[in-house]
Amino acid sequence: MKFITGSMMFVAGVLLTGNAAAQAQVKPEVLVKQRQSAMTLQAKYFGPLNGMAQGKVPYNASVVARNAGYLEVLTKMPWDGFDPRTKGEKTAALPAVFTDTAKFKEAQERLQGEAAKLVSASKGGDEDAVKAQIRAVGKTCGGCHEDFREKKK
Ligand code: HEC
Repeated sequence: MKFITGSMMFVAGVLLTGNAAAQAQVKPEVLVKQRQSAMTLQAKYFGPLNGMAQGKVPYNASVVARNAGYLEVLTKMPWDGFDPRTKGEKTAALPAVFTDTAKFKEAQERLQGEAAKLVSASKGGDEDAVKAQIRAVGKTCGGCHEDFREKKK
């Protein structure tokens, strides 16, 4: 019995170490690509909602509900890609990402909070409230880009 327990712990240990090693092997340029991809998908699902809030796209409550749900998950994804190992990579991320980490984290949490509120609002059926919440999400995107992303030329 003692032997079985020991070997099981050994196996678990190998699995954990193996996993950590696999993580460490992700190349910095791949991390950059992944975080940019997550950002691109955020834009894909947020863009139409922003258009609705601005009256440029006809309002569609079921699209809002679907995209808000996607967005809530997507807003959790880019951040582990901002690894200090990516500092030397070609990227639009400003150095402040790695020096002002508390503020960067705060901006992530603000986005996640507003995205969660958008999910709730989209279930409520009040179009004006939903549009206001879409704008609130948009502000968190823009606010972080203002501080942490290179200005577009
Ligand atoms: C906490 C900060 C932060 C928030 C919040 C944020 N972004 Fe970004 N975003 C960045 C940074 C930093 C980059 C640059 C990433 C890079 O080039 O490595 C970026 C890049 C992008 C890009 C370009 C991706 C590419 O292919 O290069 C898009 C599009 C984008 N963000 C959309 C959004 C949208 C839409 C939201 C809100 C729903 C959002 N972002 C919220 C920090 C943020």
